[in-house]
Amino acid sequence: MPKLSVEDLDLAGKRVFLRVDLNVPLAEGQVADDTRLQTALPTLLYCLKAGAAVILASHLGRPKGKPDPKYSLAPVARRLEERLGQPVPLAPDCVGEAVEARARSLEPGQVLLLENLRFHPEEEANDPVFAGALARLADCYVNDAFAAAHRAHASIEAITRSLSPAAAGFLMRRELEALGRILERPERPLVAILGGAKVSDKLALVEHLLEKVDTLLIGGGMAFTFLSALGHGVGRSLVEPGRIEVARRVLAEASRRGKSVGLPVDAVVAESPESVESRTVGIREMPEDLMGLDIGPLTLGRFTQALGGAKTVVWNGPMGVFERPLFARGTVELARRVAVCGAFSVVGGGDTVAAVQQAGVAEKIGYLSTAGGAFLEFLEGRVLPGVAALAERA
Ligand code: 3PG
Repeated sequence: MPKLSVEDLDLAGKRVFLRVDLNVPLAEGQVADDTRLQTALPTLLYCLKAGAAVILASHLGRPKGKPDPKYSLAPVARRLEERLGQPVPLAPDCVGEAVEARARSLEPGQVLLLENLRFHPEEEANDPVFAGALARLADCYVNDAFAAAHRAHASIEAITRSLSPAAAGFLMRRELEALGRILERPERPLVAILGGAKVSDKLALVEHLLEKVDTLLIGGGMAFTFLSALGHGVGRSLVEPGRIEVARRVLAEASRRGKSVGLPVDAVVAESPESVESRTVGIREMPEDLMGLDIGPLTLGRFTQALGGAKTVVWNGPMGVFERPLFARGTVELARRVAVCGAFSVVGGGDTVAAVQQAGVAEKIGYLSTAGGAFLEFLEGRVLPGVAALAERA
């Protein structure tokens, strides 16, 4: 856990470097979903009310270390102004003399949004000189960007060596508390639901979660590699042949440990994700020329049963191609069942959170994480550089 929280800082009259994750989806030059922006507001408002001037910093997308208007934070500044009800000027850059002068001229209660940190290659290189240039903008550091805490980048890691005190914001703490509750002291039974397309992205997670969970439910494209490992024919479904052996080992290990692993027993199949026709088949009758694109009703029933007695549920990854209504039922229905199962539930990953919202049950989920990669790495048991930096320094 971070040593300091933003509430421990004496903020009156200070300039705060507030690292947030405003890596939001854009569409036609507008913020398409401002969930991350809204979750950044409590810490920002707290700092402003406490009499600080805030230098707000974020990355947006992956501009490959050079300025690119496509990745400018300008649309984010406009949306922030609306949400905050006060001007949020966008600096032309995130470092340099002109930006330093702008930062110095800020009055308590004012905000300056820095331009995309990743316009400089030194950000992703965790460069100490660049971190020092960022540090010169402020008197203290607050990191509220849990969703980027798995990146050892200059504004997340190296900066804590140049700017102190360094504290965690409210969102950082909430995320760590909710996710920590899964790994450290879950009320049992603990059920993990994993889905998504690629098993290779999730193997480390599966292996680590097996030590923690009582039941693991696997759906989505990744389930077909596990089904192949059990000798099922899966037609043209997504399978990663290079991972079948590991999947087999994982299943054997689960059974050795007495953990229950639920895999699909039926699937919605079609020619391709673009198809307009589908049918449901048992997993033993998968047609050779079709692919599984959603879990079927029998699987949904079994997964619901497994959720029955659960006290804690963690979920990452959709059960199928839920962006298409034809293949959305498994994921959307599962979201509804998680919402009413009575367990403390934690859902993470952009797609899964979107599915929960699509199902209209976001309010009934215990905790919706803003993180994707950081969520997975945390649950894999890895140390997140952004969290470690705050825990080591204060
Ligand atoms: C995210 O959206 O998961 C974070 O903002 C990190 O983005 P990145 O994967 O481009 O580092």
